[in-house]
Amino acid sequence: MATSKSILTEHEITRDRLAELLNEDLAREYQAIIGYVVYSQVLSGAEYMGIADQLEIHAKQELDHALIISRQIDYLGKMPAVTPKSVRTSKNPKEMLRFDLENENETIRNYRDRIRQCEALGEFAMAEQIRQILVQEQDHQIDLATALGEEVPDISGPQGRALGKRR
Ligand SMILES: [Fe+2]
Ligand SMILES: [Fe+2]
Repeated sequence: MATSKSILTEHEITRDRLAELLNEDLAREYQAIIGYVVYSQVLSGAEYMGIADQLEIHAKQELDHALIISRQIDYLGKMPAVTPKSVRTSKNPKEMLRFDLENENETIRNYRDRIRQCEALGEFAMAEQIRQILVQEQDHQIDLATALGEEVPDISGPQGRALGKRR
């Protein structure tokens, strides 16, 4: 089921639709910037000092991603979005880290789709730029899962595995 759906999606993708989806990605990058700016400063306590420093690095990387994604949207002839997806906050450090991890999982799922969609349109350079972002998002995911003392979540469905095989 998932395989036939993914083939259909690849056939249905257009440059306009890709630009729309990239604007969703951009809104997620803005969300990530805001989340990491705030969380890196309010996470306190000796046990969270290491991860707070890492979140500060994430914040800067998310800004780089936002710039790269905006450039791709402009290249496709569309206007980059200006509104972030909503940022959840919590007074509980574990909950904050959990929100970050869930957002990263969602981001990774989307970028995996986006790479396939770029390739379906013959936009190989764009696919490569997004691959490089994806590598950093996966590092963020690992940092957060580690801070939470959890296994890195397996979010690779049949589509993710198919992509892995092609590499
Ligand atoms: Fe990002
Ligand atoms: Fe990230």
